[in-house]
Amino acid sequence: MSAEFQAPRGIPDYFPPASADFRRVRDTLTDAARRAGYGHIELPIFEDTGLFARGVGESTDVVSKEMYTFADRGERSVTLRPEGTAGVMRAVIQHGLDRGQLPVKLCYAGPFFRYEKPQEGRYRQLQQVGVEAIGVDDPALDAEVIAIADEGYRRLGLSGFRLEITSLGDDESRPRYREALQQFLFGLDLDEPTRKRAEINPLRVLDDKRPEVKEATADAPLLLDYLSDAARGHFDIVLGHLTRLGVPYEINPRLVRGLDYYTKTTFEFVHDGLGAQAGIGGGGRYDGLMRQIGGKQDLSGIGFGIGVDRTILAMRAEGVADADAARCQVFGVPMGAAAKAELVGLAGRLRAAGISVDLAYGDRGLKGAMKAADRSGARLALVLGDRELDEQTIEVKDLSNGAQRKVSLSTVVDDVVGVLTQ
Ligand code: HAM
Repeated sequence: MSAEFQAPRGIPDYFPPASADFRRVRDTLTDAARRAGYGHIELPIFEDTGLFARGVGESTDVVSKEMYTFADRGERSVTLRPEGTAGVMRAVIQHGLDRGQLPVKLCYAGPFFRYEKPQEGRYRQLQQVGVEAIGVDDPALDAEVIAIADEGYRRLGLSGFRLEITSLGDDESRPRYREALQQFLFGLDLDEPTRKRAEINPLRVLDDKRPEVKEATADAPLLLDYLSDAARGHFDIVLGHLTRLGVPYEINPRLVRGLDYYTKTTFEFVHDGLGAQAGIGGGGRYDGLMRQIGGKQDLSGIGFGIGVDRTILAMRAEGVADADAARCQVFGVPMGAAAKAELVGLAGRLRAAGISVDLAYGDRGLKGAMKAADRSGARLALVLGDRELDEQTIEVKDLSNGAQRKVSLSTVVDDVVGVLTQ
């Protein structure tokens, strides 16, 4: 019988034990950013619709088809955030963070919303960890951002991924390329909506997934061949730094990202074990975004968004997910009401000493309680009955090898801490 209420279509729930992977991915990636000096930023889940329309770009699928937009009770049009970069930039402008020390280095984690067609790895509520470094246009920062993602994935045990990278050029390169690409596209037999796209944002046409369009655009001119000297120089320095950082890359001159704000360095991490939804993270530099959303100056930024959901799927595909991680270190097994009362107090003292503790709740027999102890993944079981209580002792059972010792109740906290921190 199916439950009366289901999570909205295309939205995964994460619960134990699999949620341990979720936390590990999020914490490992944010730690990697913290080690490079990125501070945490907490952003609104919804913002003014115009922020995303202007920031992300009207011609993108994200804005034109996938936004969760609604009028609030004050008749303002708001949108559940489809991505994080526009919101970070809004906060930087609003709070004048760009008047302080540059670059402003920020890291965020949380849910984003896109009304996409749900399938494995493509969700309507997706989770990202992202970083943004705003205010300095230095290729060393591009390399730093990319290396944070690379290091994060590797720390999670992943190895079956590759970094695809290209440059989308600067203000000087793009108009020349745009013209060449449009000339090429207008020479093709395109349907009306695609032709319109070619007029508004010709690069988007290269992102068209339909086989006939892919085939027709196979020989389209490449932006990499139209880079200005400055943009070429910037890209070459990024690649040099990546080599110094030991981050392998593949240049993919046909890489097109789904958001409009990118300039210069753009990249995507692709995992080979994931089928169609292979992008586990991506990002790049954005030069015009600040001005686009009303900033008085126009500072360059660089960042990435890593898909937490897809990173977990990649870990499962590689067999490095660790979903059955222990729920607690110690499991208390009371036999009788007096023993339960003692163990409740002992659990509190152990937790205060930094040990994670669970108890057999409800009045189960010894067998059921020991089964629960095994299932919890705990290293130690503390078994207490009336006899031990009379002696003021407790049985400490090592669940990894079955060894059992009698320990005085007055010293058991120190004993357990000692065993678990050995
Ligand atoms: P994005 O490529 O749109 O970039 O998303 C980043 C990552 O989020 C993707 O590589 C993918 O792993 C994950 N993702 C996106 N959509 C879905 C979905 N429907 N289901 C599951 N996972 C998904 C951005 O959002 C930019 N804000 C990244 C950035 C930051 N660029 C510069 N700074």
